[in-house]
Amino acid sequence: MVDFSLGFPAGFLWGAATAAHQVEGNNTNNNWHAWEEAGRVFRQQRSGLACDWWGGRYVEDFDRAAALGHNAHRFSIEWSRIEPERARFDGAAMDHYVRMVAALRERGMEPLITLHHFSNPLWIENDGGWTNPETIRRFERFVRTVVEELAPGVRLWCTINEPMIYATQGYLFGHFPPGRRSLRETFTVAENLLRAHARAYNAIKEIDPAAQVGLAKHQISLKPGFPALVNRRARRIVWDFFNAAFVDALQTGTLALPRRTVEVPEAAGTFDWIGLNYYYRFLIRFHLLYPQRLFLHQSRPRDGIQGPESVGEIWPEGLFEHIKWLGDRTGKPIYITESGLPDPDDAIRPLFLVRALRSVWQAINFNYPVKGYFFWTLVDNFEWSEGYDPRFRFGLFGCDPETQARTRRPSADLYGEICAANALTADMVRRYVPDHAGELFPGVDVLPEVTLPPRA
Ligand code: BGC
Repeated sequence: MVDFSLGFPAGFLWGAATAAHQVEGNNTNNNWHAWEEAGRVFRQQRSGLACDWWGGRYVEDFDRAAALGHNAHRFSIEWSRIEPERARFDGAAMDHYVRMVAALRERGMEPLITLHHFSNPLWIENDGGWTNPETIRRFERFVRTVVEELAPGVRLWCTINEPMIYATQGYLFGHFPPGRRSLRETFTVAENLLRAHARAYNAIKEIDPAAQVGLAKHQISLKPGFPALVNRRARRIVWDFFNAAFVDALQTGTLALPRRTVEVPEAAGTFDWIGLNYYYRFLIRFHLLYPQRLFLHQSRPRDGIQGPESVGEIWPEGLFEHIKWLGDRTGKPIYITESGLPDPDDAIRPLFLVRALRSVWQAINFNYPVKGYFFWTLVDNFEWSEGYDPRFRFGLFGCDPETQARTRRPSADLYGEICAANALTADMVRRYVPDHAGELFPGVDVLPEVTLPPRA
């Protein structure tokens, strides 16, 4: 029988992504711990044991990922563990990460290491955090320490996760520590992160010239609301500020922020690849009353999927839009460093995966150099300000932070089959999203296999 399969290039990396503070547990020496203690998280929750990776449960979770055919994993290093006090480095903490890298290698998985994923040591935070230009040099010193130790087992480095999310959530919207609402500080933080990235890039390349260094950039899709004339302009402003400014600065060394341009010549060309983190599409509706929301609104899905109220619309096809934009703009290899959705019942995750990967496949077939896909995330974890809000479960596996019990969701199996086959096949589509097969891939639902029962 003639059937289709969307094949991915040989050597494509398949995995999931995690971040230290969200999975390790017992991180009590960073800005997020202080934020939790101050009752700033959903229902005053605390990250607590999280997924207990610091206690060693990363081993069983890496086993799960490996058994499902993942050949890569992205995780982050917690700065406050490596350097708990200024200039005091903790060798035992370092050894923990050395073991994590080795554990991945033993399972045939490529590590992608993030050096900054939202959390700062308290001593950094209390000394002005990323508004203090000193943090740039201090970050570089931390990066050097880590890379010296881990370089033998690591090829792929991500300096900073989502600089514009970090800057805006912490300094403009006030949802993340330090909870500020200042455009001036937001700009300063963005600039300092860019400078820190450039330094980290050069430091890593100095230690290991073969290293491949990039960063993870969060991109949002934007749909102009009515009236189109006004909102197309508003869309442009938000796109330029949130999606474009940092990426362009990596190319040109000029960080063009609204009504403020900063020259950071040392940043030009400091990336070997660009990471795309993509989740939501928003409606842009210019409204003088809500400038602090950057004109962003929840958009009502037509071709998208409705997510929880507080987030945007889930529109997996946005991946193509952003791969295209990043590819055209930078010409660099692209990793999807995060892609996922909050879905506690796994009701829409299988459909999401099929649509998302169809979109990535399409981009690859347009010759965009996409090298890997990291699903967010492996196991349910501490979702920052949302804490353990039951609506914000992003994992292929569920994880109960009280009992540490893991539950495997159907998506884990679907994604595992895709990883193992290095392809998305018609057969998978029929078994996991039978109701959507014909609409997603016209003709698929009339093929004989349509009646096969779902695989357990
Ligand atoms: C962050 C993750 C977070 C995910 C889901 C991304 O912006 O990098 O840490 O858990 O979004 O909200």
